[in-house]
Amino acid sequence: MTSVFSICIVLGSMCVCLLSAESEITVSGQVGSTAVLPCELQRVGTETPYIRWRIKSEDVFERSGEESYQGEGYEDRVDVPEEELRKGNCSLVLRNLSLTDAGVYTSYQIVRHTERSAIPKTEEISRVNLSVYEKPPEKRTEIPTDDAGMKCPHPLIMVLSLISCLLLQFFFA
Ligand SMILES: *[C@@H]1O[C@H](CO)[C@@H](O)[C@H](O)[C@H]1NC(C)=O
Ligand SMILES: *[C@@H]1O[C@H](CO)[C@@H](O)[C@H](O)[C@H]1NC(C)=O
Ligand SMILES: *[C@@H]1O[C@H](CO)[C@@H](O)[C@H](O)[C@H]1NC(C)=O
Repeated sequence: MTSVFSICIVLGSMCVCLLSAESEITVSGQVGSTAVLPCELQRVGTETPYIRWRIKSEDVFERSGEESYQGEGYEDRVDVPEEELRKGNCSLVLRNLSLTDAGVYTSYQIVRHTERSAIPKTEEISRVNLSVYEKPPEKRTEIPTDDAGMKCPHPLIMVLSLISCLLLQFFFA
């Protein structure tokens, strides 16, 4: 009985982990390397997408078609390739990482022509927590933990296991 209950607790905390993981993505890179901060447009309309990446309240990068803007300190290091953006891929490429680049980056899509208003609408797309490390991690004999290692199982699997878990508890009670 207690084992069934503890499984429920474990699964329950996994659900919490999934919920918190959904809102923020973590990317890490070594100093001097290139990081790709993932972003995907929810909708690709007929007009050229207008994308903006910010860190805190500072602009890092902006692109609308061929026109782009690179924020202070990010000159010649950032890009959202135009070709990718047209496909709905708004991932930010950040080259030559430095320790000061670490932080939470947020991407926005600016929708200029909504049906009724002429006022541009800014919609948040994704939030990426970038961490930068100085040296490659020391060689360890233990199993390497890559990014995928921290991910939660598929939500459907978790929901199903949680349900079966609760059912089990119901029958054993
Ligand atoms: C999106 O763009 C980035 C940077 O250009 C690229 O590294 C990545 O592979 C692209 N992702 C997809 C799904 O095409
Ligand atoms: C990378 O950035 C460092 C400073 O952070 C600079 O000294 C170096 O020249 C840059 N390297 C390239 C290839 O731009
Ligand atoms: C970003 O990630 C780092 C390392 O994983 C963590 O220490 C930090 O608290 C995170 N920042 C935010 C705002 O979540």
